[in-house]
Amino acid sequence: MAEMLNIIVICGSLRRGSYNAALARALPGLAPSGMKLTAGPPFDIIPHYNADLQNSAGFPVSVNAFADAIRAADGLIIVSPEYNWSIPGPLKNAIDWVSRMKDQPFANKPVALQSCATGALGGARMQYHLRQSLTSIDAFLFGRPEVLVSFSAQKFDEKTLELKDQPTIDIVKQQLIAFEAFIRRVSK
Ligand SMILES: Cc1cc2nc3c(=O)[nH]c(=O)nc-3n(C[C@H](O)[C@H](O)[C@H](O)COP(=O)(O)O)c2cc1C
Repeated sequence: MAEMLNIIVICGSLRRGSYNAALARALPGLAPSGMKLTAGPPFDIIPHYNADLQNSAGFPVSVNAFADAIRAADGLIIVSPEYNWSIPGPLKNAIDWVSRMKDQPFANKPVALQSCATGALGGARMQYHLRQSLTSIDAFLFGRPEVLVSFSAQKFDEKTLELKDQPTIDIVKQQLIAFEAFIRRVSK
């Protein structure tokens, strides 16, 4: 039997009623049996990146915790909204901090992307920016199928925020199966 893969899930939205957080919560129930999904450590407590802070006090505890969780994982799933056609600031800030580390946590790390957006493009532009940023620090970005949940307000239950849209459920399952195969291939 293949070894269980430990995957951390990072949600780019901080708001309570977040569709992206709702999708992230649904993932353990949609993942293949060879994957164990765990929520990543908080990154909203990470201070704004400032090289002076890094040079005087080193990496904050919150950054080290975030980096250690990435290093320990077999792969990452980032589920994030798009803000103004790009990566939400708190998530980009966490990536910027981690990008300065010598034992680079993202290097050779398999990463899959998912996004929910209330508009028609489903967060596609944010995903392309994440692909650029994470490739710059040597992550292995999973390709297809892509998970882009457009018009997300229609895809989740209004009250419970449960994912109720069958085509979305199907594509998420397909991506997770393909992501597991990708991790096993690139991690050999
Ligand atoms: C600051 C801000 C910028 C946004 N920019 C975009 C955008 O560029 N593209 C888009 O599709 N939706 C954009 N939206 C709308 C989000 O898709 C919508 O608010 C979504 O619900 C956010 O994800 P969440 O529910 O996980 O918090 C923006 C929302 C905010 C608050």
